[in-house]
Amino acid sequence: MVGQQLRNQRHDGALAEHFRRRGAQHAAGGDAGRRKRGARRAIGTAAFDGIEIHGANGYLLDQFLTAHTNLRTDGWGGTTHQRLKLLVAVCDAVRAAVGDDMPVGMRISQGKVNDFTHKWGGGEADAEAVFGTLADAGLDFIHVTEFEAWQPAFPGGADSLATLARRYAPGTTLIANGNLHDPARAAQVLDGGAHIVALGRGALANPDFPRKLAEGTGRAAFDNTILGPIADIKARELA
Ligand SMILES: Cc1cc2nc3c(=O)[nH]c(=O)nc-3n(C[C@H](O)[C@H](O)[C@H](O)COP(=O)(O)O)c2cc1C
Repeated sequence: MVGQQLRNQRHDGALAEHFRRRGAQHAAGGDAGRRKRGARRAIGTAAFDGIEIHGANGYLLDQFLTAHTNLRTDGWGGTTHQRLKLLVAVCDAVRAAVGDDMPVGMRISQGKVNDFTHKWGGGEADAEAVFGTLADAGLDFIHVTEFEAWQPAFPGGADSLATLARRYAPGTTLIANGNLHDPARAAQVLDGGAHIVALGRGALANPDFPRKLAEGTGRAAFDNTILGPIADIKARELA
C-alpha cells in the first residue's frame, strides 16, 4: 500500500533530496530525548496501551537506516549497524520513559513513501543486522510492512521480510502488514513466521473485519474515494 498510496506523490527527486538533507542536518542525539517525552505523553496523557515507534516508510528513523539518505560521518552514519544507532537510541529512550511492563515495538520497512521499491543493499545480511539489533534492543514487537508482505524480500531470494524477521529476531513478537486483507495471503504470512497480521485498507473498508471473517460473510473492497477531497470520515461511512 505504501507503493499504491504514493503513486500520487512526487518522484522528481526533490522529496528524496529533502530527506537526504534532513537526515544530514538532524540533531540525532536530541531526537531520542524528544521521543522519550512523546512516549511519556502517549502512556500518561493519552492512556495508550503500548508504543509503536515508527521506523518505516521513509520517516526520520528510516532515513537514518537507509544508506543513500544517511550520508553522515559523525557516528550516526556509516555501516548498517551505525545507521541503526539512532533507532536503538530511540528504543532505549522510549523504554526508559515507559518502563519494562509497557509493550514497545517498532515498525520497519524497506520501501519508502517516495521510493516504494527500495531494497536494503546488503540483502539478507542487512535483515540480520536490522532485526537482530532491534531484538537485542529489547523490543517487545517488530512490525514489518511491505507492499505485498508474502513476496520475497530480495531479488533471487525466497524468504519474505516477515520470515527474515522471524529468523533474526526469533524471540520477538512479529506483526506483518501489506495487502493481507485476503485471508489466504494472511495465512501464508502467519505460516511464514508472523504472529499477528495488521490491516490498513481492509479494516478501513470493513471496521467489522474480524466478525465478517468469522461468519464467512463478504467483505467490502477499499474505496479510494474516501481519501478525497480530504481524507476525513465521510457521512456514508457513519451510516
Ligand atoms: C488512508 C491511509 C493512510 C495511511 N497513512 C499512513 C501513514 O501516515 N504512515 C504510514 O507509515 N503508513 C500509512 N499508511 C499505510 C498503512 O499503514 C499500511 O502500511 C498500508 O495501508 C498497507 O496495508 P494494507 O495493505 O492492509 O492497506 C496509510 C494507509 C492508508 C490507506
